[in-house]
Amino acid sequence: PLKAFIFDLDGVITESAEYHYLAWKALAEELDISFTREFNEELKGISRMDSLDKILTRGGRMNDFTQEEKDSLATKKNEHYRTFIKKITPDDVLPGIEPLLAEIRSRGLKIGLASVSKNAADVMNSLRLTEEFDVIVDAATISKSKPDPEIFLTAARLLNVAPSECIGVEDAAAGVTSIKGAGMFAVGVGSAETLAEADLIYANTSLLSYEEILAEFEKRT
Ligand code: BG6
Ligand code: MG
Repeated sequence: PLKAFIFDLDGVITESAEYHYLAWKALAEELDISFTREFNEELKGISRMDSLDKILTRGGRMNDFTQEEKDSLATKKNEHYRTFIKKITPDDVLPGIEPLLAEIRSRGLKIGLASVSKNAADVMNSLRLTEEFDVIVDAATISKSKPDPEIFLTAARLLNVAPSECIGVEDAAAGVTSIKGAGMFAVGVGSAETLAEADLIYANTSLLSYEEILAEFEKRT
């Protein structure tokens, strides 16, 4: 039986994925590395340092910086990112998310968050959603970033449910890989092309339907 939903944060609960995109794009362009939305898909769900490495590799500049310089590039991106998230309010919860959370809660199911972002706690507080979640697993709790399944497995363990009793919700290809690697049912939010591995895909959060997700979950498990 279904016992829990585990959500990604950036790009699922709120539009902060766009802020990550803008902040990385600014840094990449400063380094004369081209940055496209298509390439950005490869960064979604990936930790800060892994993202920087991917950008430097793309620009053929992997060996141009010392670790210290890389740390300061990552800090610079984060400071830029933080100017965006400072403005987040409860109005920035994406459409469809609050009704879905209410529906999940009314069925007596558990709710978890699985975000590799070191800013996750701040974003959740700004959205005033922290109390709505039974567990929040972020960068501080895990050692491996998505696409590794560790983060979704950790959330399930802390919720005291089996992975097969969980549904994971993600906007990133790396996130869907993490959910499937954990042995969970995956709901993707975004393009069917990018999220092909998901069990069920919605173009955006306003289309999320509890009844439909439940029906698909019961069919496939
Ligand atoms: C993920 C985002 O949630 O968090 C990535 O999808 C981001 O784009 C990652 O790089 C790490 O975030 P932060 O806030 O620790 O730099
Ligand atoms: Mg995301």
